[in-house]
Amino acid sequence: MPLMAQTPRIPTSRLRRTAFLLGAIIFLITGCDQSPESLDESTWETIQAKVLEPNCTGCHAAGTDFARQSDLVLTADVAYDQLVDVPPRNAAAKADGLVRISSEGLAGLDKSFLWEKINAREREHFLSDHPEYGSFMPLGAPPLANGEIELIRRWIVAGAPRDVQVTDPEPLLADKTRFEEAQEFIPLSAPSKGLAIRLGPFEVAPNFEREFFYYEPASGTQGLLVERVEISMRPGSHHFILYTHADDMPTALQPSAHDYRDIRTPGGALDFDVIRVMEHHIFFAGTQWPSMDYRFPPGVALRLPAGKGLDLNSHYVNRSNDPITGEVHVNLHTVDPGEAQRVAEVLFLNNLNISLPPQQTTTLTRTYRFTDRREVFMLFSHAHQHMQEFRVYVDGGTRSGELVYIAYDWEHPPIAEIDPPLVLEPGEGLRLEATYNNWTDRTLTFGLRSEDEMMILFGYYLSG
Ligand code: HEC
Repeated sequence: MPLMAQTPRIPTSRLRRTAFLLGAIIFLITGCDQSPESLDESTWETIQAKVLEPNCTGCHAAGTDFARQSDLVLTADVAYDQLVDVPPRNAAAKADGLVRISSEGLAGLDKSFLWEKINAREREHFLSDHPEYGSFMPLGAPPLANGEIELIRRWIVAGAPRDVQVTDPEPLLADKTRFEEAQEFIPLSAPSKGLAIRLGPFEVAPNFEREFFYYEPASGTQGLLVERVEISMRPGSHHFILYTHADDMPTALQPSAHDYRDIRTPGGALDFDVIRVMEHHIFFAGTQWPSMDYRFPPGVALRLPAGKGLDLNSHYVNRSNDPITGEVHVNLHTVDPGEAQRVAEVLFLNNLNISLPPQQTTTLTRTYRFTDRREVFMLFSHAHQHMQEFRVYVDGGTRSGELVYIAYDWEHPPIAEIDPPLVLEPGEGLRLEATYNNWTDRTLTFGLRSEDEMMILFGYYLSG
Protein backbone atom coordinates (compact mmCIF):
# COMPACT_ATOMS: atom_id res chain seq x y z
CA MET A 1 0.00 0.00 0.00
CA PRO A 2 1.46 3.38 -0.93
CA LEU A 3 0.44 4.83 2.42
CA MET A 4 2.50 2.26 4.34
CA ALA A 5 5.44 2.95 2.06
CA GLN A 6 5.41 6.55 3.21
CA THR A 7 5.38 5.90 6.95
CA PRO A 8 8.08 3.39 7.89
CA ARG A 9 10.31 6.01 9.46
CA ILE A 10 8.12 6.68 12.45
CA PRO A 11 10.00 5.44 15.53
CA THR A 12 8.42 2.39 17.12
CA SER A 13 8.09 4.15 20.48
CA ARG A 14 5.89 6.73 18.82
CA LEU A 15 3.91 3.98 17.13
CA ARG A 16 3.37 2.34 20.50
CA ARG A 17 2.21 5.61 21.97
CA THR A 18 -0.13 6.05 19.06
CA ALA A 19 -1.42 2.51 19.53
CA PHE A 20 -2.01 3.20 23.19
CA LEU A 21 -3.90 6.40 22.42
CA LEU A 22 -5.95 4.63 19.77
CA GLY A 23 -6.72 1.87 22.25
CA ALA A 24 -7.82 4.43 24.79
CA ILE A 25 -10.03 6.13 22.25
CA ILE A 26 -11.53 2.81 21.16
CA PHE A 27 -12.11 1.97 24.81
CA LEU A 28 -13.87 5.29 25.31
CA ILE A 29 -16.03 4.78 22.25
CA THR A 30 -16.96 1.20 23.02
CA GLY A 31 -17.41 2.22 26.66
CA CYS A 32 -20.35 4.25 25.44
CA ASP A 33 -22.04 0.98 24.56
CA GLN A 34 -22.75 0.56 28.24
CA SER A 35 -24.80 3.77 28.35
CA PRO A 36 -28.45 3.81 27.19
CA GLU A 37 -28.84 2.06 23.87
CA SER A 38 -30.84 5.03 22.61
CA LEU A 39 -27.55 6.84 22.11
CA ASP A 40 -26.76 4.54 19.22
CA GLU A 41 -30.21 3.64 18.02
CA SER A 42 -31.58 5.66 15.12
CA THR A 43 -34.96 7.28 15.66
CA TRP A 44 -36.43 4.95 13.08
CA GLU A 45 -35.15 1.90 15.01
CA THR A 46 -36.63 3.27 18.23
CA ILE A 47 -39.97 3.90 16.54
CA GLN A 48 -40.06 0.43 15.03
CA ALA A 49 -39.04 -1.37 18.23
CA LYS A 50 -40.80 0.74 20.87
CA VAL A 51 -43.90 2.00 19.09
CA LEU A 52 -44.81 -0.14 16.08
CA GLU A 53 -43.78 -3.50 17.56
CA PRO A 54 -46.01 -3.30 20.65
CA ASN A 55 -48.93 -1.46 19.00
CA CYS A 56 -49.15 -2.41 15.35
CA THR A 57 -47.38 -5.59 14.29
CA GLY A 58 -50.02 -7.75 15.93
CA CYS A 59 -52.04 -6.95 12.81
CA HIS A 60 -49.43 -5.63 10.41
CA ALA A 61 -47.30 -8.81 10.17
CA ALA A 62 -46.75 -11.01 7.12
CA GLY A 63 -49.51 -13.52 6.55
CA THR A 64 -52.29 -11.90 8.59
CA ASP A 65 -55.63 -10.89 7.12
CA PHE A 66 -55.01 -7.36 8.34
CA ALA A 67 -51.71 -7.16 6.49
CA ARG A 68 -53.40 -8.40 3.31
CA GLN A 69 -56.21 -5.88 3.72
CA SER A 70 -53.85 -2.96 4.29
CA ASP A 71 -50.96 -4.32 2.19
CA LEU A 72 -48.74 -3.10 5.02
CA VAL A 73 -46.25 -5.03 7.15
CA LEU A 74 -44.61 -3.16 10.00
CA THR A 75 -42.08 -5.73 11.29
CA ALA A 76 -38.43 -4.62 11.47
CA ASP A 77 -37.30 -6.50 8.34
CA VAL A 78 -39.51 -4.64 5.87
CA ALA A 79 -41.30 -1.77 7.61
CA TYR A 80 -39.04 1.08 6.51
CA ASP A 81 -39.20 0.07 2.86
CA GLN A 82 -42.95 -0.32 3.04
CA LEU A 83 -43.46 3.13 4.50
CA VAL A 84 -41.11 5.81 3.26
CA ASP A 85 -42.24 7.43 -0.01
CA VAL A 86 -44.51 4.45 -0.79
CA PRO A 87 -48.03 5.20 -2.08
CA PRO A 88 -50.78 3.93 0.22
CA ARG A 89 -53.08 1.04 -0.52
CA ASN A 90 -56.09 3.22 0.36
CA ALA A 91 -57.39 4.55 -2.97
CA ALA A 92 -58.73 7.90 -1.74
CA ALA A 93 -55.50 8.75 0.05
CA LYS A 94 -53.50 7.72 -2.99
CA ALA A 95 -55.67 9.88 -5.24
CA ASP A 96 -55.06 12.81 -2.86
CA GLY A 97 -51.34 12.41 -3.48
CA LEU A 98 -50.43 11.06 -0.04
CA VAL A 99 -47.66 8.57 0.60
CA ARG A 100 -47.43 6.37 3.69
CA ILE A 101 -44.54 8.41 5.09
CA SER A 102 -43.12 11.32 3.16
CA SER A 103 -39.37 12.08 3.33
CA GLU A 104 -39.96 15.73 2.43
CA GLY A 105 -39.65 16.92 6.03
CA LEU A 106 -42.08 19.53 7.35
CA ALA A 107 -43.74 19.79 3.94
CA GLY A 108 -44.30 16.04 4.04
CA LEU A 109 -46.08 15.80 7.37
CA ASP A 110 -49.57 16.38 6.03
CA LYS A 111 -48.77 14.20 3.02
CA SER A 112 -48.00 11.24 5.26
CA PHE A 113 -50.95 8.87 5.44
CA LEU A 114 -49.58 7.08 8.51
CA TRP A 115 -49.40 10.44 10.29
CA GLU A 116 -53.02 11.22 9.37
CA LYS A 117 -54.07 7.87 10.77
CA ILE A 118 -52.40 8.23 14.17
CA ASN A 119 -52.55 11.97 14.93
CA ALA A 120 -55.01 11.80 17.81
CA ARG A 121 -55.50 15.54 18.22
CA GLU A 122 -56.91 15.75 14.71
CA ARG A 123 -58.97 12.61 15.00
CA GLU A 124 -62.26 14.44 14.70
CA HIS A 125 -61.08 16.13 11.49
CA PHE A 126 -59.81 12.87 10.12
CA LEU A 127 -63.13 11.16 10.63
CA SER A 128 -65.32 14.03 9.42
CA ASP A 129 -63.17 15.31 6.53
CA HIS A 130 -61.95 11.97 5.23
CA PRO A 131 -64.50 9.25 5.87
CA GLU A 132 -62.96 7.34 2.94
CA TYR A 133 -59.48 7.18 4.56
CA GLY A 134 -60.37 4.08 6.60
CA SER A 135 -60.02 3.74 10.35
CA PHE A 136 -57.95 5.48 12.91
CA MET A 137 -54.85 3.48 14.01
CA PRO A 138 -54.19 1.42 16.03
CA LEU A 139 -57.48 -0.10 14.91
CA GLY A 140 -59.92 -0.67 17.75
CA ALA A 141 -57.49 0.49 20.43
CA PRO A 142 -56.90 3.78 22.24
CA PRO A 143 -54.64 6.22 20.38
CA LEU A 144 -50.85 5.99 20.77
CA ALA A 145 -49.42 7.88 23.75
CA ASN A 146 -48.79 11.57 23.09
CA GLY A 147 -45.03 11.07 23.44
CA GLU A 148 -45.04 8.26 20.85
CA ILE A 149 -46.98 10.44 18.44
CA GLU A 150 -44.57 13.33 19.01
CA LEU A 151 -41.58 11.04 18.36
CA ILE A 152 -43.06 10.01 15.01
CA ARG A 153 -43.86 13.63 14.18
CA ARG A 154 -40.28 14.76 14.83
CA TRP A 155 -38.93 11.89 12.78
CA ILE A 156 -41.13 12.82 9.80
CA VAL A 157 -40.30 16.54 10.12
CA ALA A 158 -36.60 15.57 10.06
CA GLY A 159 -37.16 13.83 6.72
CA ALA A 160 -37.83 10.28 8.02
CA PRO A 161 -34.19 9.13 7.87
CA ARG A 162 -33.32 5.46 8.37
CA ASP A 163 -30.02 5.85 10.24
CA VAL A 164 -30.07 9.11 12.18
CA GLN A 165 -31.16 9.90 15.71
CA VAL A 166 -33.13 13.11 15.24
CA THR A 167 -34.16 13.63 18.86
CA ASP A 168 -33.61 12.11 22.30
CA PRO A 169 -36.40 9.51 22.57
CA GLU A 170 -36.24 9.00 26.34
CA PRO A 171 -38.30 11.99 27.54
CA LEU A 172 -40.84 11.46 24.77
CA LEU A 173 -41.34 7.76 25.46
CA ALA A 174 -41.73 8.59 29.15
CA ASP A 175 -44.82 10.68 28.29
CA LYS A 176 -47.60 8.09 28.54
CA THR A 177 -50.50 10.55 28.48
CA ARG A 178 -53.10 9.93 25.82
CA PHE A 179 -55.26 12.40 24.01
CA GLU A 180 -58.81 12.03 25.16
CA GLU A 181 -61.59 13.30 23.04
CA ALA A 182 -63.83 15.75 24.76
CA GLN A 183 -66.99 13.68 24.59
CA GLU A 184 -68.53 15.87 27.18
CA PHE A 185 -68.74 19.60 26.85
CA ILE A 186 -67.12 21.16 29.89
CA PRO A 187 -68.59 24.63 30.50
CA LEU A 188 -66.04 27.19 31.65
CA SER A 189 -66.49 29.32 34.72
CA ALA A 190 -65.67 32.99 34.26
CA PRO A 191 -62.01 33.96 34.75
CA SER A 192 -61.12 35.75 37.96
CA LYS A 193 -59.89 38.62 35.80
CA GLY A 194 -60.71 39.10 32.16
CA LEU A 195 -63.45 38.52 29.67
CA ALA A 196 -65.94 35.65 29.37
CA ILE A 197 -67.68 35.30 26.01
CA ARG A 198 -70.41 32.70 25.51
CA LEU A 199 -71.96 31.63 22.19
CA GLY A 200 -75.12 29.56 22.06
CA PRO A 201 -76.40 26.98 22.55
CA PHE A 202 -77.29 27.18 18.85
CA GLU A 203 -78.61 24.64 16.38
CA VAL A 204 -76.69 23.11 13.46
CA ALA A 205 -79.07 21.64 10.87
CA PRO A 206 -78.69 18.02 9.65
CA ASN A 207 -76.05 17.51 6.93
CA PHE A 208 -75.03 21.14 7.13
CA GLU A 209 -71.92 23.16 7.81
CA ARG A 210 -72.86 26.10 9.91
CA GLU A 211 -70.28 28.87 9.98
CA PHE A 212 -70.97 32.28 11.41
CA PHE A 213 -69.43 35.41 12.89
CA TYR A 214 -70.44 37.09 16.12
CA TYR A 215 -69.21 40.49 17.18
CA GLU A 216 -68.26 41.20 20.78
CA PRO A 217 -67.62 44.95 21.13
CA ALA A 218 -64.65 46.43 22.99
CA SER A 219 -64.97 46.34 26.74
CA GLY A 220 -63.75 49.51 28.44
CA THR A 221 -61.35 51.95 26.88
CA GLN A 222 -58.06 50.44 27.98
CA GLY A 223 -57.54 47.52 25.68
CA LEU A 224 -56.59 44.16 27.19
CA LEU A 225 -53.42 42.23 27.91
CA VAL A 226 -54.31 38.56 27.51
CA GLU A 227 -52.07 36.01 29.20
CA ARG A 228 -54.21 32.92 28.70
CA VAL A 229 -56.99 31.86 26.31
CA GLU A 230 -59.42 29.09 27.26
CA ILE A 231 -61.89 27.74 24.73
CA SER A 232 -64.36 24.90 25.26
CA MET A 233 -66.92 23.75 22.71
CA ARG A 234 -69.65 21.20 22.32
CA PRO A 235 -68.60 18.37 19.96
CA GLY A 236 -68.86 19.00 16.22
CA SER A 237 -66.81 22.18 16.02
CA HIS A 238 -64.49 22.39 13.07
CA HIS A 239 -62.64 25.49 14.12
CA PHE A 240 -63.06 28.57 16.20
CA ILE A 241 -61.18 31.82 15.64
CA LEU A 242 -61.23 35.26 17.23
CA TYR A 243 -60.40 38.13 14.92
CA THR A 244 -60.07 41.86 15.33
CA HIS A 245 -60.92 44.28 12.55
CA ALA A 246 -58.16 46.09 10.66
CA ASP A 247 -57.93 49.85 11.27
CA ASP A 248 -58.85 50.63 7.68
CA MET A 249 -62.11 48.66 7.65
CA PRO A 250 -64.85 50.90 6.21
CA THR A 251 -67.29 51.89 8.97
CA ALA A 252 -70.18 50.74 6.77
CA LEU A 253 -68.98 47.17 7.33
CA GLN A 254 -68.92 47.43 11.14
CA PRO A 255 -71.13 44.55 12.32
CA SER A 256 -73.69 45.06 15.04
CA ALA A 257 -73.01 43.49 18.41
CA HIS A 258 -74.10 39.97 19.37
CA ASP A 259 -75.73 39.02 16.05
CA TYR A 260 -75.23 35.55 14.61
CA ARG A 261 -74.05 36.40 11.07
CA ASP A 262 -74.22 33.12 9.12
CA ILE A 263 -72.01 32.94 6.05
CA ARG A 264 -74.42 30.46 4.41
CA THR A 265 -78.16 30.65 4.02
CA PRO A 266 -80.07 27.49 5.01
CA GLY A 267 -80.10 26.65 1.27
CA GLY A 268 -76.28 26.74 1.23
CA ALA A 269 -75.76 29.99 -0.72
CA LEU A 270 -73.03 32.32 0.54
CA ASP A 271 -74.05 35.61 2.12
CA PHE A 272 -71.62 38.19 0.76
CA ASP A 273 -72.61 40.87 3.25
CA VAL A 274 -71.11 38.64 5.91
CA ILE A 275 -68.15 37.51 3.86
CA ARG A 276 -67.17 41.05 2.88
CA VAL A 277 -66.00 41.73 6.44
CA MET A 278 -63.52 38.84 6.24
CA GLU A 279 -61.16 40.87 4.12
CA HIS A 280 -60.54 43.09 7.15
CA HIS A 281 -59.98 40.39 9.74
CA ILE A 282 -56.77 40.08 11.72
CA PHE A 283 -56.16 36.82 13.55
CA PHE A 284 -56.22 37.18 17.32
CA ALA A 285 -56.51 33.62 18.70
CA GLY A 286 -58.11 30.36 17.73
CA THR A 287 -58.17 26.59 17.81
CA GLN A 288 -59.08 23.58 15.72
CA TRP A 289 -59.51 21.37 18.75
CA PRO A 290 -62.67 20.96 20.84
CA SER A 291 -60.97 22.53 23.79
CA MET A 292 -57.90 24.64 24.28
CA ASP A 293 -56.12 26.18 27.21
CA TYR A 294 -53.31 28.27 25.79
CA ARG A 295 -50.99 30.17 28.10
CA PHE A 296 -48.53 32.63 26.71
CA PRO A 297 -44.97 32.14 27.97
CA PRO A 298 -44.46 33.48 31.54
CA GLY A 299 -44.47 37.26 31.62
CA VAL A 300 -45.85 37.51 28.08
CA ALA A 301 -49.30 38.81 27.18
CA LEU A 302 -51.08 39.40 23.89
CA ARG A 303 -52.38 42.90 23.36
CA LEU A 304 -55.96 43.58 22.32
CA PRO A 305 -55.65 47.25 21.38
CA ALA A 306 -57.92 49.83 22.98
CA GLY A 307 -61.22 50.22 21.19
CA LYS A 308 -60.95 46.87 19.39
CA GLY A 309 -63.79 44.42 19.65
CA LEU A 310 -63.55 40.76 18.73
CA ASP A 311 -65.24 39.13 15.77
CA LEU A 312 -65.76 35.48 16.68
CA ASN A 313 -65.88 32.84 13.96
CA SER A 314 -67.43 29.46 14.70
CA HIS A 315 -67.62 26.63 12.18
CA TYR A 316 -69.63 23.49 12.99
CA VAL A 317 -69.96 20.45 10.76
CA ASN A 318 -72.98 18.18 11.17
CA ARG A 319 -72.78 15.07 9.01
CA SER A 320 -75.67 13.35 10.77
CA ASN A 321 -79.36 13.28 9.84
CA ASP A 322 -80.39 15.00 13.07
CA PRO A 323 -79.82 18.54 14.24
CA ILE A 324 -76.97 18.98 16.72
CA THR A 325 -76.37 21.69 19.29
CA GLY A 326 -73.29 23.87 19.21
CA GLU A 327 -71.96 25.98 22.04
CA VAL A 328 -68.71 27.87 22.55
CA HIS A 329 -67.21 29.24 25.75
CA VAL A 330 -64.23 31.59 25.61
CA ASN A 331 -62.27 32.99 28.54
CA LEU A 332 -59.65 35.64 27.99
CA HIS A 333 -57.58 35.88 31.17
CA THR A 334 -55.97 39.27 31.46
CA VAL A 335 -53.20 40.94 33.46
CA ASP A 336 -52.54 44.56 34.39
CA PRO A 337 -49.98 46.42 32.27
CA GLY A 338 -47.38 46.25 35.09
CA GLU A 339 -47.64 42.45 35.21
CA ALA A 340 -46.59 41.73 31.65
CA GLN A 341 -42.87 42.07 30.99
CA ARG A 342 -43.27 41.51 27.29
CA VAL A 343 -46.18 42.08 24.97
CA ALA A 344 -46.88 39.68 22.12
CA GLU A 345 -47.60 41.47 18.89
CA VAL A 346 -49.72 40.22 16.02
CA LEU A 347 -47.84 39.69 12.77
CA PHE A 348 -49.93 40.59 9.73
CA LEU A 349 -48.34 40.23 6.30
CA ASN A 350 -50.84 40.90 3.55
CA ASN A 351 -49.78 40.67 -0.09
CA LEU A 352 -52.25 42.78 -2.06
CA ASN A 353 -50.25 42.39 -5.24
CA ILE A 354 -52.08 39.38 -6.67
CA SER A 355 -52.59 38.64 -10.32
CA LEU A 356 -53.28 35.08 -11.41
CA PRO A 357 -53.68 34.48 -15.14
CA PRO A 358 -56.61 32.28 -16.25
CA GLN A 359 -56.23 28.52 -16.72
CA GLN A 360 -52.82 28.44 -15.07
CA THR A 361 -51.03 27.47 -11.92
CA THR A 362 -49.09 30.42 -10.55
CA THR A 363 -46.72 30.74 -7.61
CA LEU A 364 -46.48 34.14 -5.94
CA THR A 365 -43.46 34.96 -3.83
CA ARG A 366 -43.21 37.90 -1.49
CA THR A 367 -40.42 38.62 0.98
CA TYR A 368 -40.86 40.68 4.10
CA ARG A 369 -37.78 41.92 5.93
CA PHE A 370 -38.11 43.40 9.41
CA THR A 371 -36.03 46.22 10.85
CA ASP A 372 -36.53 45.08 14.46
CA ARG A 373 -35.60 41.82 16.18
CA ARG A 374 -38.55 39.39 16.35
CA GLU A 375 -39.19 36.11 18.08
CA VAL A 376 -42.00 34.50 16.12
CA PHE A 377 -43.93 31.81 18.01
CA MET A 378 -47.11 31.23 16.00
CA LEU A 379 -48.02 31.26 12.30
CA PHE A 380 -51.32 30.90 10.47
CA SER A 381 -51.99 31.48 6.76
CA HIS A 382 -55.07 32.74 4.99
CA ALA A 383 -56.02 32.38 1.32
CA HIS A 384 -59.06 31.40 -0.74
CA GLN A 385 -60.21 28.38 -2.67
CA HIS A 386 -57.65 28.43 -5.49
CA MET A 387 -54.74 28.09 -3.09
CA GLN A 388 -52.95 24.77 -3.34
CA GLU A 389 -49.95 25.40 -1.12
CA PHE A 390 -48.83 28.14 1.21
CA ARG A 391 -45.20 27.98 2.32
CA VAL A 392 -43.20 30.23 4.60
CA TYR A 393 -39.40 30.25 4.59
CA VAL A 394 -36.85 32.09 6.70
CA ASP A 395 -35.19 34.82 4.65
CA GLY A 396 -31.69 35.94 5.66
CA GLY A 397 -29.48 34.89 8.56
CA THR A 398 -28.12 31.44 9.33
CA ARG A 399 -31.45 29.66 8.80
CA SER A 400 -32.17 31.33 5.47
CA GLY A 401 -34.21 29.07 3.21
CA GLU A 402 -35.58 26.90 6.02
CA LEU A 403 -39.25 25.99 5.63
CA VAL A 404 -41.12 26.99 8.82
CA TYR A 405 -44.78 26.73 7.81
CA ILE A 406 -46.86 24.92 5.23
CA ALA A 407 -50.57 24.67 4.55
CA TYR A 408 -52.26 22.62 1.85
CA ASP A 409 -55.85 23.29 2.82
CA TRP A 410 -57.10 26.81 2.22
CA GLU A 411 -60.17 26.27 4.41
CA HIS A 412 -58.35 24.82 7.39
CA PRO A 413 -54.77 25.99 7.49
CA PRO A 414 -52.90 24.71 10.53
CA ILE A 415 -52.32 27.09 13.44
CA ALA A 416 -48.63 26.34 13.96
CA GLU A 417 -46.98 26.91 17.31
CA ILE A 418 -43.26 27.50 16.85
CA ASP A 419 -41.35 26.27 19.87
CA PRO A 420 -38.62 27.33 20.43
CA PRO A 421 -39.55 30.59 18.73
CA LEU A 422 -38.00 31.54 15.42
CA VAL A 423 -35.61 34.42 16.08
CA LEU A 424 -35.31 36.93 13.25
CA GLU A 425 -32.53 39.46 13.71
CA PRO A 426 -32.95 43.00 12.29
CA GLY A 427 -32.78 42.82 8.51
CA GLU A 428 -33.97 39.21 8.39
CA GLY A 429 -37.48 38.22 7.52
CA LEU A 430 -39.90 35.74 6.01
CA ARG A 431 -40.50 34.67 2.43
CA LEU A 432 -44.07 33.73 1.59
CA GLU A 433 -44.68 31.45 -1.35
CA ALA A 434 -48.23 30.62 -2.33
CA THR A 435 -49.30 28.49 -5.28
CA TYR A 436 -52.72 28.94 -6.85
CA ASN A 437 -54.58 27.04 -9.51
CA ASN A 438 -56.75 29.45 -11.44
CA TRP A 439 -59.13 27.13 -13.26
CA THR A 440 -61.38 30.03 -14.30
CA ASP A 441 -61.38 32.02 -17.52
CA ARG A 442 -60.55 35.33 -15.90
CA THR A 443 -57.54 36.79 -14.14
CA LEU A 444 -57.91 36.57 -10.38
CA THR A 445 -56.84 39.44 -8.17
CA PHE A 446 -56.87 40.34 -4.51
CA GLY A 447 -60.37 40.48 -3.12
CA LEU A 448 -62.77 39.32 -0.53
CA ARG A 449 -65.11 37.04 -2.39
CA SER A 450 -64.18 33.39 -2.38
CA GLU A 451 -63.65 33.71 -6.16
CA ASP A 452 -60.99 36.33 -5.50
CA GLU A 453 -57.74 35.53 -3.82
CA MET A 454 -55.69 36.47 -0.81
CA MET A 455 -52.18 35.83 0.48
CA ILE A 456 -51.98 36.61 4.17
CA LEU A 457 -49.75 35.40 6.97
CA PHE A 458 -50.75 35.99 10.57
CA GLY A 459 -48.57 35.26 13.57
CA TYR A 460 -47.52 36.22 17.06
CA TYR A 461 -44.12 37.57 17.92
CA LEU A 462 -42.17 39.23 20.66
CA SER A 463 -40.33 42.34 19.69
CA GLY A 464 -36.84 43.30 20.88
C1 HEC B 1 -56.41 -4.67 14.93
C2 HEC B 1 -55.59 -4.63 13.74
C3 HEC B 1 -54.76 -3.41 13.46
C4 HEC B 1 -53.89 -2.76 14.30
C5 HEC B 1 -53.59 -3.05 15.76
C6 HEC B 1 -53.28 -1.72 13.53
N1 HEC B 1 -53.77 -1.71 12.25
FE1 HEC B 1 -53.26 -0.45 10.74
N2 HEC B 1 -54.65 -1.30 9.54
C7 HEC B 1 -55.49 -2.35 9.87
C8 HEC B 1 -56.42 -2.56 8.79
C9 HEC B 1 -57.51 -3.62 8.76
C10 HEC B 1 -56.14 -1.62 7.78
C11 HEC B 1 -56.84 -1.41 6.44
C12 HEC B 1 -58.12 -0.60 6.60
C13 HEC B 1 -57.91 0.83 7.01
O1 HEC B 1 -57.04 1.51 6.45
O2 HEC B 1 -58.62 1.28 7.91
C14 HEC B 1 -55.01 -0.84 8.29
C15 HEC B 1 -54.42 0.16 7.59
C16 HEC B 1 -53.32 0.90 8.02
C17 HEC B 1 -52.64 1.88 7.23
C18 HEC B 1 -52.98 2.29 5.82
C19 HEC B 1 -52.28 1.40 4.83
C20 HEC B 1 -52.53 1.80 3.40
O3 HEC B 1 -51.53 1.87 2.67
O4 HEC B 1 -53.68 2.07 3.02
C21 HEC B 1 -51.64 2.39 8.01
C22 HEC B 1 -50.65 3.47 7.63
C23 HEC B 1 -51.70 1.71 9.27
N3 HEC B 1 -52.72 0.80 9.25
C24 HEC B 1 -50.85 1.96 10.32
C25 HEC B 1 -50.98 1.35 11.56
C26 HEC B 1 -50.16 1.70 12.69
C27 HEC B 1 -49.05 2.74 12.67
C28 HEC B 1 -50.58 0.93 13.72
C29 HEC B 1 -50.08 0.94 15.14
C30 HEC B 1 -50.01 2.24 15.79
C31 HEC B 1 -51.66 0.08 13.25
N4 HEC B 1 -51.86 0.37 11.92
C32 HEC B 1 -52.32 -0.84 14.01
C33 HEC B 1 -55.44 -3.07 11.03
C34 HEC B 1 -54.69 -2.73 12.16
